[in-house]
Amino acid sequence: MFLQMFKTIVFLVIIWCCYFYQCHGCIEEERTRLLQIKDSINYPYDSSLDEDWVGKNCCKWYGVECNSLSSRVISIDLSSRREEGLGLWYPNASLFAALKELEELGLGENHIGGWVAPQAFSEMQNLRDLNLSSNDLSADIYSVRGLCELKNLRGLYLGGNNLNGRSLPPCFSNLSMLEDLSLSSNDLGSNSSALTGLCGLSALRTLRLSYNYINDNSLPMCLGNFSLLENLYLSGNDLSGPFGNSISGLKRLRVLYLHSNHLSDDGISPWISNLTSLTTLWLQNNILKGSDGLRGLKQLQQLHLDSNHLTDDSIFPWISNLTSLTTLWLGNNSLKGSDTMRGLCGLSALRFLYLYDNDLSSLPICMGNFSLLEELYLFRNNLSGLFDSSVPGLKQLRILQLGSNHLTDDVISPWISNLTSLTELYLGNNTLKGPHTMRGTMLFIFQKNTPKQTNYTNTKTTRVDSRPSLSKLVLQANLGNDLPIIVQPGLK
Ligand SMILES: *[C@@H]1O[C@H](CO)[C@@H](O)[C@H](O)[C@H]1NC(C)=O
Ligand SMILES: *[C@@H]1O[C@H](CO)[C@@H](O)[C@H](O)[C@H]1NC(C)=O
Ligand SMILES: *[C@@H]1O[C@H](CO)[C@@H](O)[C@H](O)[C@H]1NC(C)=O
Ligand SMILES: *[C@@H]1O[C@H](CO)[C@@H](O)[C@H](O)[C@H]1NC(C)=O
Ligand SMILES: *[C@@H]1O[C@H](CO)[C@@H](O)[C@H](O)[C@H]1NC(C)=O
Ligand SMILES: *[C@@H]1O[C@H](CO)[C@@H](O)[C@H](O)[C@H]1NC(C)=O
Ligand SMILES: *[C@@H]1O[C@H](CO)[C@@H](O)[C@H](O)[C@H]1NC(C)=O
Ligand SMILES: *[C@@H]1O[C@H](CO)[C@@H](O)[C@H](O)[C@H]1NC(C)=O
Ligand SMILES: *[C@@H]1O[C@H](CO)[C@@H](O)[C@H](O)[C@H]1NC(C)=O
Ligand SMILES: *[C@@H]1O[C@H](CO)[C@@H](O)[C@H](O)[C@H]1NC(C)=O
Ligand SMILES: *[C@@H]1O[C@H](CO)[C@@H](O)[C@H](O)[C@H]1NC(C)=O
Ligand SMILES: *[C@@H]1O[C@H](CO)[C@@H](O)[C@H](O)[C@H]1NC(C)=O
Repeated sequence: MFLQMFKTIVFLVIIWCCYFYQCHGCIEEERTRLLQIKDSINYPYDSSLDEDWVGKNCCKWYGVECNSLSSRVISIDLSSRREEGLGLWYPNASLFAALKELEELGLGENHIGGWVAPQAFSEMQNLRDLNLSSNDLSADIYSVRGLCELKNLRGLYLGGNNLNGRSLPPCFSNLSMLEDLSLSSNDLGSNSSALTGLCGLSALRTLRLSYNYINDNSLPMCLGNFSLLENLYLSGNDLSGPFGNSISGLKRLRVLYLHSNHLSDDGISPWISNLTSLTTLWLQNNILKGSDGLRGLKQLQQLHLDSNHLTDDSIFPWISNLTSLTTLWLGNNSLKGSDTMRGLCGLSALRFLYLYDNDLSSLPICMGNFSLLEELYLFRNNLSGLFDSSVPGLKQLRILQLGSNHLTDDVISPWISNLTSLTELYLGNNTLKGPHTMRGTMLFIFQKNTPKQTNYTNTKTTRVDSRPSLSKLVLQANLGNDLPIIVQPGLK
């Protein structure tokens, strides 16, 4: 009764609003501008918007959003709308400037080579967010310079535009409200002064400079002055470090991507230990041996160290101090066993642990400490021995990947059925013999009509009735003749 009345009132209020503020339609003048933009996008060919931008109410057009009170356009998303093969597009900035309340403009992946009338940017003082990623703005420096007029921009995305030192103008420093700047996948690092134009951007919270051929010399010293910076992306560059002075003062930095560089232990210490607010640190694909510079990063939740040169001795002493870790990648290193594992024992917050492509022959006594662990990746190691009796403590484990080890049926059997949360179990390429051995001990009951396997490259599906939680069991390339390859229990 009360609810009914409430609904009626809301309905009447909406009708009233629509009557006074024309929420049915858009401003005719703005519609005309949008139609001109529509015509220009594939000019002189048919517009790619012929089906999406039709009808009177331009506020309902695909990718267009209006202010509900003023009915003026506040957001346009036109990414990937220019047809391939038409060459570069030079949109007329005046057409966009005529949309007085425009706040967000998305024009990524449109082969934009520059602007007609870039001076019109000076009229777009409401624009907060401009996405021009994956275009080709390098050739027309006047167009890029025009962006300097957008003094109220908060987000600017210029990744993948072939920009180099000459195409990034010094006036960029004037974009002083900018909080989120993306310049990834350009060529701004081979010119050592190209990035100094960014030095005035003291409001930055996110700066993306990955894949830019940046080396230790072209990383600007002023980075350390971005005291509000929270996210810094520098992956895929030519950094070897140390470049501590510029970064180590960033007290608010939470996310730092440095993967795929040439960083050694000396390259990251000691400066990295000053970044005590870091929660996510990606360092995979470098040449680290195991620096204890990471020791003090108590807030770290995600640490990515895949594909380095880590050994047991080098990580054991310090890794146990990172007690906030929930996700730890240590795959594709040179870890052998017990000492490494001992270092991990205190990491009781771990939920995802990646240890594939190492040389591990055993798992630690403390496995049961990981009572929150959900996913464990151990494929391509050297495991033959028993897991410890504490393995059944992994009550939350959902995914267990043990492929390409030397596991036998009697090693697996005693504990695997205690992992009651498992949904995916990978045991391929081991030395298992078959469901007959495993059936009794593992409580896996294969259907009676399981086709006989004569060849381990076949794939077939069967059901495992007794483990309703298990959705995937992979067993290919083992020894048993009648092992099913992939079992998907619960499949009807
Ligand atoms: C750009 O658009 C404005 C406004 O519609 C128009 O006056 C001007 O002629 C256009 N410029 C070019 C070069 O088409
Ligand atoms: C910018 O546009 C591209 C597509 O053109 C999109 O993939 C990307 O997510 C956008 N970036 C932001 C920050 O909106
Ligand atoms: C290097 O960058 C600076 C600053 O942007 C620019 O003035 C200069 O022309 C660039 N040099 C080369 C060789 O591109
Ligand atoms: C920055 O803006 C001011 C005034 O808006 C202008 O005088 C100055 O030339 C601009 N700086 C650059 C480097 O463009
Ligand atoms: C960093 O900021 C300080 C003080 O604001 C200033 O003196 C210094 O020149 C700046 N450094 C760089 C490299 O911009
Ligand atoms: C790191 O912090 C310590 C103390 O807070 C300071 O003495 C040291 O200079 C800093 N190191 C770097 C490389 O900034
Ligand atoms: C493993 O790491 C080495 C470098 O340590 C790298 O060359 C190789 O591509 C990595 N392998 C995989 C599968 O990532
Ligand atoms: C690291 O942990 C050890 C004990 O495991 C402790 O003695 C040491 O003080 C810790 N170091 C830091 C920097 O927290
Ligand atoms: C981890 O396990 C070991 C051995 O089972 C135990 O001695 C230790 O107290 C555990 N540590 C934590 C933090 O639970
Ligand atoms: C099976 O595991 C062995 C090592 O145990 C490895 O050399 C081989 O490449 C693996 N085969 C497949 C198909 O993964
Ligand atoms: C596994 O669970 C069974 C009962 O479900 C229990 O009797 C057995 O002790 C457990 N095994 C281990 C190693 O904890
Ligand atoms: C194994 O199975 C594959 C795919 O069915 C087949 O191509 C291959 O000839 C078989 N090999 C043998 C030895 O039967």
